[in-house]
Amino acid sequence: PINTLEDVRGLLAEHPDFPCPGVLFQDIFPIFHHPAAVRIVVNELVRQISEHFGQVDAVIALDARGFLFGPLVCQQLDIPFIPVRKAGKLPGTVIERSSTKEYGADVLAIPAGAAAACTGAIATGRQPRAVVLDDLLATGGTAAAAVALTREAGFEVAGFAVMVLLTELWAPLAAGKITAAGLTEDQ
Ligand code: PRP
Ligand code: HPA
Repeated sequence: PINTLEDVRGLLAEHPDFPCPGVLFQDIFPIFHHPAAVRIVVNELVRQISEHFGQVDAVIALDARGFLFGPLVCQQLDIPFIPVRKAGKLPGTVIERSSTKEYGADVLAIPAGAAAACTGAIATGRQPRAVVLDDLLATGGTAAAAVALTREAGFEVAGFAVMVLLTELWAPLAAGKITAAGLTEDQ
């Protein structure tokens, strides 16, 4: 039975040399074989977001695996979910930025008018505060680009939340400007 975060950690599957030589890939999908594990992860993400970042007006989650958690976390926090997608997938006016990750490069995009979804903050003349959410942080390249896009779309960034923090890879960026909260470290 899956009862604790430790049990959830045990579900992560390691794949050497995927998707390219030298990468020890952590597969998060086995977590989704167990509804109890998903509940534990989502509750813990919600708890850590509230504890580390306080009140937030929106969750900005990342294509593709950040989308597995974004709407579930938003339901519990009762705030809007906003996507950051790989370029070419979002209609309408978008803001784009290129990013590099552990095993490749992408162009990411956010809807230019996304902050308008935070009607409460907008109505009171307050800048909306967002948390950026993904499944996993490795080098932090994707996180840095997503945080920059979130700011360009008019949000204050409260922080970055992930399920898996690969702290060795993240270390150089940790000295920088983004606060991260993660459920697991050094998997
Ligand atoms: C993965 C992961 C993070 C990113 C982390 O996404 O989900 O978004 O890489 O790497 P980094 O910290 O080195 O930037 P990827 O685009 O590979 O896959 P996905 O589309 O399946 O989410
Ligand atoms: N697992 C899943 N996604 C990733 C990884 C990993 O080890 N590194 C960068 N993105």
